[in-house]
Amino acid sequence: MNAIQPEAAQPQAIYLKDYQAPAFWVDQVKLDVALDDHQTRVISTLSLRRNDQREAGLPLVLNGQGLTLKRIELAGQPLAETDYQYQEDLLTVARVPDQFTLVTEVEIDPANNTALEGLYKSNTMFCTQCEAEGFRRITFFPDRPDVLTRFTTRIEADQQRFPILLSNGNPIERGELDNGRHFVTWEDPFPKPCYLFALVGGNLQAVKDTFTTMSGREVALEIWVEPENLHKCDHAMRSLKASMRWDEQTYGREYDLDIFMIVAVNDFNMGAMENKGLNIFNSACVLAEPKSETDAAFQRVEGVVGHEYFHNWSGNRVTCRDWFQLSLKEGFTVYRDQSFSADMNSAPVKRIEDVAMLRTAQFAEDAGPTAHPVRPDHYIEINNFYTLTIYEKGAEVVRMMAELLGRERFRQATDLYFERHDGEAATVEDFVACMAEVSELDFSQFMRWYHQAGTPKIEASGHFDADARTYQLTLRQHTPATPGQADKLPLHIPVRMGLVGPNGHDLPLELNGEQLGTETVLHLREAEQTFTFHNIAAEPVPSLLRGFSAPVKLAFDYSREQLAFLMAHDSDGFNRWDAGQRLAVLALQHLVNQIQANEPLQLDPALIEATRTLLNGEMTDKAVLAEMLRLPSEAYLAEQYEQVDVDAIHKARSFARKALADALYDDFLRLYKVNQRVGDYAPEANQIAERSLKNTCLGYLMAREDEATIALTQEQFNCADNMTDQRAALTLLAHAEDPRLGAEPLRRFGESWAHDPLVMDQWFSLQVTRPQADALDRLKMLMAHPAFSLKNPNRVRALIGAFVGQNRVNFHRQDGQGYQLLADVVIELNRLNPQIAARLVIPLTRWKRMTSERQDMMKAQLERIRQESLSPDLFEIIEKALA
Ligand code: PHE
Ligand code: ZN
Repeated sequence: MNAIQPEAAQPQAIYLKDYQAPAFWVDQVKLDVALDDHQTRVISTLSLRRNDQREAGLPLVLNGQGLTLKRIELAGQPLAETDYQYQEDLLTVARVPDQFTLVTEVEIDPANNTALEGLYKSNTMFCTQCEAEGFRRITFFPDRPDVLTRFTTRIEADQQRFPILLSNGNPIERGELDNGRHFVTWEDPFPKPCYLFALVGGNLQAVKDTFTTMSGREVALEIWVEPENLHKCDHAMRSLKASMRWDEQTYGREYDLDIFMIVAVNDFNMGAMENKGLNIFNSACVLAEPKSETDAAFQRVEGVVGHEYFHNWSGNRVTCRDWFQLSLKEGFTVYRDQSFSADMNSAPVKRIEDVAMLRTAQFAEDAGPTAHPVRPDHYIEINNFYTLTIYEKGAEVVRMMAELLGRERFRQATDLYFERHDGEAATVEDFVACMAEVSELDFSQFMRWYHQAGTPKIEASGHFDADARTYQLTLRQHTPATPGQADKLPLHIPVRMGLVGPNGHDLPLELNGEQLGTETVLHLREAEQTFTFHNIAAEPVPSLLRGFSAPVKLAFDYSREQLAFLMAHDSDGFNRWDAGQRLAVLALQHLVNQIQANEPLQLDPALIEATRTLLNGEMTDKAVLAEMLRLPSEAYLAEQYEQVDVDAIHKARSFARKALADALYDDFLRLYKVNQRVGDYAPEANQIAERSLKNTCLGYLMAREDEATIALTQEQFNCADNMTDQRAALTLLAHAEDPRLGAEPLRRFGESWAHDPLVMDQWFSLQVTRPQADALDRLKMLMAHPAFSLKNPNRVRALIGAFVGQNRVNFHRQDGQGYQLLADVVIELNRLNPQIAARLVIPLTRWKRMTSERQDMMKAQLERIRQESLSPDLFEIIEKALA
């Protein structure tokens, strides 16, 4: 049955071009919140003032969603029912003066809030999530980022159950009340949009510290958690202090309040939230302790703590005019946190990881039905736009501007931006104007990076003329069509490059009579451009897009010999890695061809030799070496095809791993042993690099599943004093062909960590990413496990997200059961948590690149979801997927 929705019930799109300034400002808001599981009462007192930039006599319109209105008073007088209207999430008061006070009293039900937006309960605590449009679920308000207001918040609750009551700014009053209740009042001196409001109530404990800012002010630092997590806060505190110092040193930005708080909550839709002075974190992004969390988790905590802290300037002090400008704060802040992590750890590895993620996940988004520009021009549900494109591609766009300006001028430009727009709600144009003003460069063509969706492709070709001693490099750019954007214009693309001579050294570059040193940035602006380098004596190998200087796909017809040469000699570390990836892609594609043609498989000896060289070479950066030894992921390989053969890709990659292990067994084993640490665990760069290298080697060895390696892996599992090594071993055992190898370790691990949900998430994930055909049955079994709940986003991501995102062969099972299971879950989540449902469904929307039988099965599941009464979140995604 096709339940046709009436036209008016369909969610409507909002357009950037329709932006209008707010009709009213809110100079001040006083909130009075009496916490209760099902009947929380919120009294708000708004000081409203007409915006004289807008036409006279406009009605007052406030957002409000799911609120039970108990009382409404204008200038101290109760409003008659005919004076206002509360309909379709809007409260309208037709006739209001130019300046007045509005009091509303509403009731809400946090305990039944499973969407985790607005005020909700997570275990025993109350918390809020207001970005993007959650504040309207708490009280009536102009819920838009360009209305900046001073907040005073009084929170009242049962003293026993909720001894800790937190909000933004400084505590100014507290006291006890009748009936065992108490209250705390908080005042935030900085005007802020309501999406940065936060409130927490619970039985929490804190790790406390202080930080002295560059001007000598002392700031109190507090990380609030449930008591059982108190021992997992040290790393976050260290990371916070490092972030505060880094932002002073790198951007000249000082913290501005007397107190900075972080709260960890177990139920959270995203990673963390930058609420002014009161960051709220998904516990998975703040808690870390060696016995229970991996090196990756430690690095995630550092990055996310930095990210949220950096928002205090890029997001809070300067915020966004409207949600179309989301990348203004997110792209810039991701760029900032990437630079921070690069400074704290191995910079080349950080770049490799970021690019690997961009090139698989973001490129896939940019090529699929939900592709959108870094600055979208319309949306139905803003929650759907917290994407890799806004965050990661947005960061790449900022990175290109930083490259174009150079370190010093980029700093001048960000100084100008922060000073000029402090306390304002800004646009992408404001940001780019600061770049242009300081550098005197013309950014008009560059702005297309914000407007055009899709990944540009550069086809490069070279021609060496021995007689003329010239090397001609021709670059052709093309951006494929994306939904709603058929024709694209050429972009301004910075291509950092060098020419590597036969002896492995970069050649001096002479272009248009100018000596450019041995490395330069070419500015590709036209659809096609040729650059002629002079005085080139012998044929060079071009090294293009060094450091991944632009988020594009670059094609050049390298031979395997040239790639092996670049792998060994390129002066750019990133491109050495990338040459290795290109060589591996060629070898794996060759295997895919053999599989599809039913031929015997043989791994390219060039890849084996290149790997042998790596294993026996002098490479001192172990972190980079580990990256270079890693084969491109199945997801990245899939990106290389118009039509994806998931089974052949999986088979090819597994075969290659085993072939490398067979050929280089002794080398892998030696490197494994050399990197076994003696001494205490620490999550610091050198040790992380050693563990990464060691476990990469063990992974290859286990591809053979021979007795000796099995024993080695079991020993590592049994003896590890840290989660990184233990989980690496457990994963290999659990992913073994022989299911008996994993059974006992999994049981033991599951029992000993049953009390820790974050560790149980790892336990869930590594079982359902098992490549063997029994993975789906295990997934179904684990969904019935007492530690699993569809209501908790971390559990959903750990179990279902990991299966659909990281177990490609099993999600795309030929019988379609993977698709069916995902659709079942999405339908249920549509009712519970629309945001999570809309994110989870994405892999199902990418049906166009699958083979036709799979396309049909995927579309059938999308159609099945469409029959439901959909949230705007899911409605928007499903419509795009089936358009
Ligand atoms: N603004 C948050 C961040 O990037 C992300 C977020 C968005 C969190 C929406 C919650 C809800 O850091
Ligand atoms: Zn952010």
